[in-house]
Amino acid sequence: MSESKIALISGANKGIGLETARQLIAKGYEVYIGARREAEGQAAAAKLGPKAHYIHLDMSNPDTFIAAAQKLEQLHGLLDLLVNNAGIGPDNGMKPSEAPIELIRDSFNTNVFGLVELTQRMLPLLRKSAGGRIVNVASILGSLTLNSDPNTDLGDWRSFGYNGSKAAVNMFTATLAFELRNTKIKVNSAHPGWVKTDLGGDAAPLDVTEGAQTSVWLATLPEDGPTGGFFFKQDRLPW
Ligand SMILES: NC(=O)c1ccc[n+]([C@@H]2O[C@H](COP(=O)([O-])OP(=O)(O)OC[C@H]3O[C@@H](n4cnc5c(N)ncnc54)[C@H](OP(=O)(O)O)[C@@H]3O)[C@@H](O)[C@H]2O)c1
Repeated sequence: MSESKIALISGANKGIGLETARQLIAKGYEVYIGARREAEGQAAAAKLGPKAHYIHLDMSNPDTFIAAAQKLEQLHGLLDLLVNNAGIGPDNGMKPSEAPIELIRDSFNTNVFGLVELTQRMLPLLRKSAGGRIVNVASILGSLTLNSDPNTDLGDWRSFGYNGSKAAVNMFTATLAFELRNTKIKVNSAHPGWVKTDLGGDAAPLDVTEGAQTSVWLATLPEDGPTGGFFFKQDRLPW
C-alpha cells in the first residue's frame, strides 16, 4: 500500500490534464495518467517522474474502464481522486441547426457517456478512500444561464454538441453529489477558464498552469469543502 493519495486523470497525456497531474504530484499524489494511446501516455508519465504512471483509458471503450479499475484495485485497493478531464469539441463553431449529428453524438459519447461510465466503475474504489474526490471538468459553455441569455457574448462558441454535453456533465455532478451527500465523497464541476491547448486554441488568454488550478483545488478540498457545485477558481458559476 502506498502512502501517497492515488489519483486517476482521464485525458492526461496533454493539455490541462497533464498539467493537473503535474500539480497534483507536486502536492504528493501518485497519479495515473489516463490516455488512449500508450506511447503518448508513457511519454507524458515519463515527463512527470516516478509518481506518474500510464494507464490505458479510452473514453469510447468501456472495457478500458473495467481493466483500469481492476489494476487500481490490485495495486492500491482504493482510489482517492478521479479527475474526469478528457473532452472533445468536434462541433465547436458550428450552428446547432447544421452540426452533423455524428459530431454531436461523438461529443456526448466522450464527454458524457464515457465520463459517467468511468465514474460508475471507479466508485467502489472511491468509496474505500478516507475522502474520495470526483472532479468533472465541464465548461462555462455548458451553462444554461449564459446560453439562454441572448445578451451573453459567447462568440462562435454556441454549439449544441459541446455545450449540451457539458451541461449534461453538470447535471451528473448535481445528481451524483446528491446521491453521495451522506458519504465522504465530494463531487464538483470545474471550468478551467479559456486555456491555450489543442482544444482551446492559441487565442486563449490562460496558460495550462492557471487552467489546471480549479481542478487541483477541487481535487484537494478539505472535509468541510463544498460538494455539488460548479466553480472557476474558487468562485461559483451559474448552472
Ligand atoms: N481549453 C479550454 O479553453 C477549455 C475550456 C473549458 C473546458 N475545457 C475542458 O478541459 C478538458 C481538457 O481539455 P484541454 O483544453 O486540455 O484539451 P486537449 O489539450 O485537447 O486535451 C484533451 C484530452 O482529452 C483526451 N481525449 C479526448 N478524447 C478521448 C478519448 N476518446 N479517450 C481518451 N482520451 C480522450 C485527449 O487525448 P488525445 O491526445 O488522445 O486526443 C487529451 O488528452 C476538456 O474536458 C475540455 O472540454 C477546456
